[in-house]
Amino acid sequence: MEIKKIICIGAGYVGGPTMAVIADRCPEIGVTVVDINPERIAQWNSDKLPIYEPGLEEIVLRCRGRNLFFKTASPELIAEADMVFVSVNTPTKTFGEGEGRAADLQYLEKSARFIRPHLKPGAIVVEKSTVPVKTAEAISTILHFESQGPRHPVLSNPEFLAEGTAIRDLEEPDRVLIGCEQTPEGQLAAQALADVYAHWVPRERILLTNVWSSELSKLAANAMLAQRISSINSISALCEATRADVGEISRAVGLDNRIGPQFLEAGIGFGGSCFRKDLLNLSYICEHEGLLEVAAYWKGVVAMNDFQIERYTRKIVSSQFNTVAAKKIAIFGFAYKPGTDDTRDAPAIQVCQGLLREQARLAIHDPKALENARYDLKGVEGEVAFEPDPYKAAEGSHAIVLLTHWPEYRKLDFQRLYESMEKPSFFFDGRNWLDHAALHRIGFNVYPIGKESLSHI
Ligand code: NAD
Ligand code: UGA
Repeated sequence: MEIKKIICIGAGYVGGPTMAVIADRCPEIGVTVVDINPERIAQWNSDKLPIYEPGLEEIVLRCRGRNLFFKTASPELIAEADMVFVSVNTPTKTFGEGEGRAADLQYLEKSARFIRPHLKPGAIVVEKSTVPVKTAEAISTILHFESQGPRHPVLSNPEFLAEGTAIRDLEEPDRVLIGCEQTPEGQLAAQALADVYAHWVPRERILLTNVWSSELSKLAANAMLAQRISSINSISALCEATRADVGEISRAVGLDNRIGPQFLEAGIGFGGSCFRKDLLNLSYICEHEGLLEVAAYWKGVVAMNDFQIERYTRKIVSSQFNTVAAKKIAIFGFAYKPGTDDTRDAPAIQVCQGLLREQARLAIHDPKALENARYDLKGVEGEVAFEPDPYKAAEGSHAIVLLTHWPEYRKLDFQRLYESMEKPSFFFDGRNWLDHAALHRIGFNVYPIGKESLSHI
């Protein structure tokens, strides 16, 4: 089956970049991205895109109006599509059964109900959102309930892009995963989707599996990535207690070919919209299946992450003579990682809340995420300034706390920062990003993660 028109429901961090790359690589396919949020669509059609992602703007400018369109959803658009991607948010439930753990599938279900009456015969539905295993089956049931017409194949095609490197990840994916029902129609549909990706992805990197393996692979991949971070962070706490150096340990451990070097950087903890949510969801599913030990195992990865954030926040307070009340503290970096303006579940939120509870006065700097930071801390009690100039943020402060390893922070004039601060001046490097010996030489009392502190006190 030849795909000529694609529509994607959900113009977010995944829907937007993924469809932009498909449009770029498949000029003969018309790609339309829709969203229930008209403001978001207007932003996609404006000069200032709703998300910051390196390389995205160039692609959007190249394709927008040619074969890439951002519109509000309409029955006519659905009726034209050969393939409908569903890339809506699937956050953690905040109410009812499974509150705080299960995935909230209401947006996904609403999307399925919306497209159901308008799909053209044979149109393929692609589940792009991250979902609990067996969700494709539920979508299929909604699409075909009391319907006598032909069935619409529902494929699982989870996305593995990471923010900040989304375009590169989409253009050169390690793999593309397509799960389909093991029927001739399912396999034909999977082939049609594989043909879309084959425009730029080598065939051997396009993996075909059954639907449930595909859905579960996504949760498993995120859980294992997060687990590596929690593992190294657990070791970082032991390093601080024993004078071992977590950087040296990451290197020594990562050089083992069977382990590999990636995702072994100790730090303040993982953030982002997915690791916590997917781990909690995985753990919830396991519990639901009666696998209590498995559920506890994955929940432990989240608990270790929370411990790391709390432990470091306590250190920020305890090393400043056990009080930060009324002290100005500069926060460098609020996004959950560099290269994005996304602050969803950013460790900075918890750190800032903890410091505000201790009555510190905060000045927050981030090269891209100040607007989101303002939103995240709205209503939180205490004194918070949002400062686009890092030197102003640091002026008169007792401490700088680095929480996002933006490359620009390495280029700062640390002597100038030091001179403008209260003494003794503290530097908490929550990402082990800077030259600690150099900071110490300038006069800072330096507190990295998983390494000995360098203090003048
Ligand atoms: P997002 O919140 O940025 O975007 C989702 C969009 O869907 C929003 O703009 C929302 O308005 C829209 N939407 C919700 N219900 C809708 C409906 N009924 N009709 C039309 N639009 C609707 O979320 P995201 O980060 O793009 O994540 C989407 C999915 O992809 C999630 O399941 C997530 O777990 C998964 N995922 C995210 C990433 C990532 O890096 N952000 C990576 C891989 C997978
Ligand atoms: C992650 C996965 O890497 C993607 O494959 C997946 O598609 C995505 O989640 C998703 O499903 O949303 P993302 O959260 O965007 O991507 O970013 P990562 O690079 O994985 O970083 C996540 C967090 O872990 C960040 O806060 C980062 O600073 C932290 N991290 C990462 C560490 O603390 N140490 C490391 O060694 C690596």
